[in-house]
This record gives sequence, structure tokens and C-alpha cells, in this order.
Amino acid sequence: MTPEEFRRAGHELVDWIADFRATLEERPVMARTAPGDVARAFPKTPPESPQPVGEIFRALDTAIVPGITHFGHPRFFGFFPTGGSLSSILGDFASTGLGALGLTWQAAPALTELEEVTTDWVRQMVGLSDAWRGVIQDTASTATLVALVCARERTSNFAVTREGLQGGGSPLVVYASGQSHSSVLKAALVAGFGRTYVREIATDASHAMHPQALDRAMREDHARGWTPCAVVATSGSTTCTAFDPIGAIADICGEHGAWLHVDAAMAGSAMVLEECRPLWAGVERADSIVLNPHKWLGAIFDCSLYLVRDPEHLVRVMSTNPAYLQPSGSSGTGAGAVTTYRDWGIALGRRFRALKLWTLIHIDGVEAIRARIRRDLDHARWLAGVVADAPGWRVVAPVPLQTVCVRHEPPGVEGEALDAHTRAWCDRVNASGIAYLTAAVLDGRWMVRVAMGAPTTERRHVEETWRAMQDAVA
Ligand SMILES: Cc1ncc(COP(=O)(O)O)c(C=O)c1O
Repeated sequence: MTPEEFRRAGHELVDWIADFRATLEERPVMARTAPGDVARAFPKTPPESPQPVGEIFRALDTAIVPGITHFGHPRFFGFFPTGGSLSSILGDFASTGLGALGLTWQAAPALTELEEVTTDWVRQMVGLSDAWRGVIQDTASTATLVALVCARERTSNFAVTREGLQGGGSPLVVYASGQSHSSVLKAALVAGFGRTYVREIATDASHAMHPQALDRAMREDHARGWTPCAVVATSGSTTCTAFDPIGAIADICGEHGAWLHVDAAMAGSAMVLEECRPLWAGVERADSIVLNPHKWLGAIFDCSLYLVRDPEHLVRVMSTNPAYLQPSGSSGTGAGAVTTYRDWGIALGRRFRALKLWTLIHIDGVEAIRARIRRDLDHARWLAGVVADAPGWRVVAPVPLQTVCVRHEPPGVEGEALDAHTRAWCDRVNASGIAYLTAAVLDGRWMVRVAMGAPTTERRHVEETWRAMQDAVA
């Protein structure tokens, strides 16, 4: 494809995307395909000769769009918000077009330095002190894995790096509440802790970690010769937006010398609002934090911000070619002179993700981002109010932010029958195409989460969804 052919097709594609976004509201939210439908729309073997570019648009319309559940739809209330603002998409386009690859600072100085600038912008936006330095990872799962590897090496004084599985020292233990995201367990397993040494800490009535239970678990572990290594505190749990008490947990981590990682993947974006910051009070005492601008902040996936207080430790753990041991290069790009982000994470090659964060913040401005998040909080409060007032309906968890956990409890329907009823009405809403919700288990019972935060959701979309929920139980 020549640049001129690209120009023509590219303009057409931008028009197609703009139309797609503008008409999203008229489409069913949930994918309307059966397994195998999409694959059948494509040839089983690759074409030998060039095919018309126009066929791409036909395939997008007929096979691909119906095969997607639209996270950007104004009546998408499933999982978590991650629709992506159009302003951010522009940066993603630019990143793809530039084809920059940040293997080293030299490979793309702009990639590194804009990442430094934009991660620091987000740090300021969420009210963190300048003790923090940030790096963009693909997902929170990766960031939490990196955090647990850093914890492992700090606690073991790099014994695991030296001897790996053969070290045979005292077992290292990771602690998280039962409400922590599945990525925490996965990270602990990948980092080699082993399932036996991932302890689930009890939660209180608001589903937040019990600090006393954490302290007790660490003391028990000490007594049996295990070493408390890391705690993952969740700031805004996935199921019901519970906030672990970071200050109290930091006290316990300090006493036991454990690493404190804060998973604020979803709720971290809310900290652009000063009134939300008490929810993560004590966060300055953590060792690392993850928050996903690709969730509620509005950046298009993937863009996860990993923040650390001690970048030198991070580099020492992640670098296989330790820059801190090398003399400065003659071009001034040696140790300490520039940031080498490949040593801040797992991957060697890095995409220019900072561009989509920059265009989001540059074009929208922080005030508009704050206003959008306040709008979503307001929608959630409204929905929680009408659900609580409706006969037979119940809000089953506190609503500190934008997710409302609800259950319809018809008289006489209990236990497994109630679970079946809950999952059935959630499925009916989703199958209707009107809205998309996620069912989840809380306190051993199914309930339905209604998570605000798609870019263009207005009150009327929440009202339409509430009507669809009522119709689905009728
Ligand atoms: C609290 C929390 N942590 C971690 C994750 C995982 O995020 P990612 O998909 O970026 O790995 C999620 C996703 O829902 C989340 O809600």
C-alpha cells in the first residue's frame, strides 16, 4: 500500500469510525453472534492476490461490528468503564502511524519523555505527591505482577533472582482480601509464590479487608517460619467497589517489613476528584500503585499506569542489563541521564502509549474529565435511589462510586431459586440489546452490577436501562 492509497483508505476509515461512534446508541449493546459465526465470514485460507480495500468496510459492517459487545455504548454498564474517549483514539492512531518502538531512549526519545510527562500529569491529577514515578504498562495484571516480583526481591534480598526455584529459603507469603481481583492471584502464581502462600484475608461488612485479620495472619505465618512478603490492598474492588483501609494496612506492612501494593485499577481515576481521595487515605505510604487510565479516565485500551516510590529498586529487579552499573554514554544517554523504560517492566519493545494519554488530557482538559466522573457518580446515586425505593428491589452494597449492585427479590424466592432469577433477568436485559449488565457473586449470592462510566452516558440512558431491568423481571 502506498502513502496515497493509505490516505484514501485512511480517510474513509476515519469517517467510518466517526459514523460508528455517532450511531452506537442505535445498535444492540451485546454482540449478537453465536460461536463460530464470525470465523465463518472469513475465508479459511489467506488470499494469494490483493483484495479490494472496500471489502474491509463490508466485513466491518457485516461480520465484525455485530461480533462485538460495545463498551463505548452509552447503555453499556457491564464490567467496568473502558469505552475510550475519541480524543484518546487520535493519540492511538498517531502512535500506530508513527510505528515507534521504545526499545531504548535513543530508539524514540519522544516516546520515553512524553511517557514521563504524561504519567506525571496523571500523578498530579490524582493528588499524589512528587515522590512517585510512573510507567505505562499494558494492563493492571502486568503491573501487579511486576509489583509482586519487586516485593519478592526486596524481601529475599535478591535471593530469588540469584537462585530462582532452587533457593529453598523461608516461604514468602502474599496477602489480599477475598474481594481482590483475580489478577492478584494470577500475578502471585506467575511470580512463583505458589497457591499455598497466597492468603485470603477476611473482610468486614463493607467487604473491605480486616486489618486485624491481616495482622493475625502475618503473626501466624512468622510463627511457622514463613515470611510475610507483600500485601495487595484494593482501592475499589471489582465486584462492589470496596476500599481496603490503606493506612491501617500500611501500619501492619511497616511492622512486618512487607511490600504494600495498591490496586486502584478502576477507582484510581476517581481520585481526580478531591472529594473521593479520603477513600484511598494512606496511599502515600504504599510501595506501588496501579491505576488504569484505560478504565474510567477515558484513555482507549491499553493504558495502565504503574507508580512506584523507588524506581531504582524496580530497575534493579527488572533489568537484565543493569544500567545502574554502566558508565554514562558519550552522548549523555547513559545511566541516570535518561529513563530506560524497558527496565521498568517485562516487555522489551514498548508501544507509544503516552500519545493516547496526552491527546486525552490535552484535548479534553482535566476539568472536563472531572466533570464526566462527577456525572457518573451522580448517575449511580440516582439509580441507587430509585432501586432502593422500588418494591421488591434492593441495593445490596454501598455505592461509594459509580457501580450499583442490585438484586430483585420477589417474595418467597430465595436461595438457588433467587440466584437463577437474578441471572435470568440479567441475561434478558443483555439479550434485549438495550443495555449490558454484569452478574456477579457477593456474599455467596448472585446480584447484578450496574457500572456507569461509558463516555457518552446521559441520565436518559440510565433511565432506559432501569426500565429494561424492570421489564426483565416482570
Ligand atoms: C480492581 C481491578 N484490578 C485489576 C483489574 C485487571 O485489569 P487489567 O485488565 O488491566 O489487567 C481489574 C479489571 O477489572 C480491576 O477491576
